[in-house]
Amino acid sequence: MSKYKEMSKIALEDKLNTLKNKYEEFKAMNLQLNMARGRPCYEQLDLSGGINDCKIQYKTEAGTDCRNYGGVDGLPQSKELFAKILDMDPSEIIVGGNSSLNMMHDSITRALLLGVYGGEKPWVQQGKIKFICPSPGYDRHFAICELFGIEMITVDMKEDGPDMEAVENLLANDELIKGMWCVPQYSNPDGVTYSGQVVDRLAGMKVKAGDFRIFWDNAYCVHHLYADKKEKVKNILRACEATGNPDRVFIFTSTSKVTFAGAGISCIAASMNNIELIKRQISKQTIGPDKMNQLRHVDFLENPEKIDKLMEKHAKIIRPKFEAVQDILNREIGDRGIAKWSNPKGGYFVSFFAMKGCAKRIGVLANEAGLTLTPVGATYPYGSDPDDSNIRIAPTFPPLEDLKKAMELFALCVQIAAIEKLLSNK
Ligand SMILES: Cc1ncc(COP(=O)(O)O)c(C=O)c1O
Repeated sequence: MSKYKEMSKIALEDKLNTLKNKYEEFKAMNLQLNMARGRPCYEQLDLSGGINDCKIQYKTEAGTDCRNYGGVDGLPQSKELFAKILDMDPSEIIVGGNSSLNMMHDSITRALLLGVYGGEKPWVQQGKIKFICPSPGYDRHFAICELFGIEMITVDMKEDGPDMEAVENLLANDELIKGMWCVPQYSNPDGVTYSGQVVDRLAGMKVKAGDFRIFWDNAYCVHHLYADKKEKVKNILRACEATGNPDRVFIFTSTSKVTFAGAGISCIAASMNNIELIKRQISKQTIGPDKMNQLRHVDFLENPEKIDKLMEKHAKIIRPKFEAVQDILNREIGDRGIAKWSNPKGGYFVSFFAMKGCAKRIGVLANEAGLTLTPVGATYPYGSDPDDSNIRIAPTFPPLEDLKKAMELFALCVQIAAIEKLLSNK
């Protein structure tokens, strides 16, 4: 496969014509393909159909009537289940409703208005506060910051986690940096699992703001694609305790992509100091979460071993899709020197890096031919990728045959954009 950069102008023009003819053929098909968001597909959702056959009607063994008010921190059984998944103690967990993103949003709201444990003042009374945003990252994290006017500081993602030198320098010197987003296992979108060293540095680093918090969004903690290549991020709460910073981290996860994306259960885990304060604060917000759904989940999921089995069934459905993405990108783009992409061992995304300055054009070409991608730039704060390069590929939702077509079209768009760029410089 020859590198496009090494081809003559005439050869490139020739190639571009061929690709554009193929592109027009795709356009004529009037496709409607969507790879925009990381949604589970129907077959995945059907795996958890049994959740509605819950054996326990509404009373736990201890006699709690889950239909009634109460239990602001969640059912003891659901706390135990999340504790096992995250290697925590149940007392370090609060189980909430269907969305961990909701819990992240509310945690930031509380910190802004009321302050965090040990903080002298609410964040909002301290000036224009800032968050560190390892990027590419999760657009909805960035959207929360934008909503509240929190300034975002982009830090590069590397193969073992965020660029820690940059993170340490920033935090050691700026009292207004109050938070940092992390998706530490099979990250969105790069699929990176932070190394133990990175976790230790995050736990132990010097931080100017005493009321700084890491938002540790472990959304993909059980989402392995390969049973023999499982990755597991180090326990950050224990690492924080070991370095004398036990209150530094808020940990989140949910069953959104284990059972139902819109009707799962979620949790926050943290030090006892943090948890006790949060419990007091949320007891003013609610008289208790949906314990019936927590009960259904505990009855259906039971224990980590059973969750593992369920996740293997998920993997069996989505692995061929991830592999199709790799096969088509390798076959169509390979080593032409115009792009690179991740090959994750878990999670929900493939992170694609086009030749600099080409991502927006790829988005337009794809869109015009009926392929909806995650909006280009969304993986960076303020929707602005400085290199105009990264595109998040979400392969799970479309049926395999649609996905293959979408990826072939995508590969065409990538090549057309790259050759146009190369020709504009010749
Ligand atoms: C990193 C990350 N965190 C959180 C979520 C959403 O989680 P939930 O459904 O629990 O709100 C997603 C969904 O794509 C995600 O990718």
